[in-house]
Amino acid sequence: MIKVDFSNSQIEQEIKKFDKNKVKAVHQMIEQKTGVGNDFLGWVDYPEDFDKTEYLKMKKVAQNLQKEIDVLLVVSIGGSYLGARAANEMINGLFPTNKVKLIFVGNTISSTYTQQVFEYLKDKEFGIVNISKSGTTTEPGIAFRVYEKQLIDLKGKEIAKKRIIAVTDKAKGALKQLATAEGYETFTIPDDIGGRFSVFSPVGLFPLLVCGIDTDAMFAGAKQAMKDLKNEQNSAYDYAVARYILNTQKGYKCETLVAYELQMQMFTEWWKQLFGESEGKDGVGLFPTSCIFSTDLHSLGQFIQEGTKNVLFETIIDIKKPNLDLNVPKTQADLDGLNYLTTKTFHQINQTALLGVIDAHANEGKVPNIILEFDKMDAEMFGYAAYWFMKACAMSGYLLGINPFNQPGVEVYKTNMFKLLKKPGF
Ligand code: PA5
Repeated sequence: MIKVDFSNSQIEQEIKKFDKNKVKAVHQMIEQKTGVGNDFLGWVDYPEDFDKTEYLKMKKVAQNLQKEIDVLLVVSIGGSYLGARAANEMINGLFPTNKVKLIFVGNTISSTYTQQVFEYLKDKEFGIVNISKSGTTTEPGIAFRVYEKQLIDLKGKEIAKKRIIAVTDKAKGALKQLATAEGYETFTIPDDIGGRFSVFSPVGLFPLLVCGIDTDAMFAGAKQAMKDLKNEQNSAYDYAVARYILNTQKGYKCETLVAYELQMQMFTEWWKQLFGESEGKDGVGLFPTSCIFSTDLHSLGQFIQEGTKNVLFETIIDIKKPNLDLNVPKTQADLDGLNYLTTKTFHQINQTALLGVIDAHANEGKVPNIILEFDKMDAEMFGYAAYWFMKACAMSGYLLGINPFNQPGVEVYKTNMFKLLKKPGF
């Protein structure tokens, strides 16, 4: 479901010549769970060995909730947040017609945003899913307090109890304790799966079930990717090798993930977190950035074409089949001179733009381009692509010699903030 094209990467030969034994050794570290951070490799087999009983229960709870609410507030940040948002937008688009709308909160400390959502909810029937593995993360923690109180004030404790769900650690942690004390339904984040690798766990599944996404199809896609990537020779590892060569041998510092569909924007955000938090440590790693074309061709496109060289390369997601398509209407006067496009659909024009831009950036601009062809944008494709990138990320991180599954650097800001806020113990 993903076809990789390195013909504009400038390193086609280097990729072919790359040490296969190195890739094989890392593959074994991932599959046999022998590498550093191996206690966080639960995601590798998860699309097959996930808890089926809990999945059925989640479906039931989601169905019941759908009958009662118009809005599900998803309270979470980082890896507990981005997967569900990326999947929802990629699959449903930016104006979904589903009965239940997802609103993401707790991913910011912005007072304006938090209060605006509060105002918006005043005449809505809403529920809350609070997703946090640790249960102590500041941003979702304080947001949850606001909306839990709002729901109780509006609907009373009994109704609120039925509409609040916690997704958290199995036994320990503050959120588990709170949920048990209040009688909220809880679903479990497996111990051996970290936030940014957790989209197939209840972290992603529960909100996606409530907004009506076909999670069975998502699992089918993930399982297909699992199968396709079981062998050490596969396209995800080729992609990992390509970015490793561009970074460590050719000196590139940034990778820009480009999509030509606005509804892929949050997918690129999910990807940025996956790679940025996994690789950026011990003074190494590519800085992941993203663009949506042709939107950003009218801004960052100038820099990519003619700005500082040998800084960034592009990875392009080329969606072959759009969810919808339409023709360009003809006008009698043709004052803007665009009637020549009326024999083509928007998607055909978008695809032509993609070809022209690759030629401009890769050939004239000398910016290496890696092309990833995606068949479509549905639940199956999301499942396939998310798993594919996770596997590529594990390979990438281990090639760099770092632990892809921790994030010690994010503690520094937290400690400073806690000191300034006078948190007890800091
Ligand atoms: O990828 C990660 O592990 C992080 O981004 C976490 O998901 C994020 O910090 C949120 O953590 P928690 O789920 O404990 O609230």
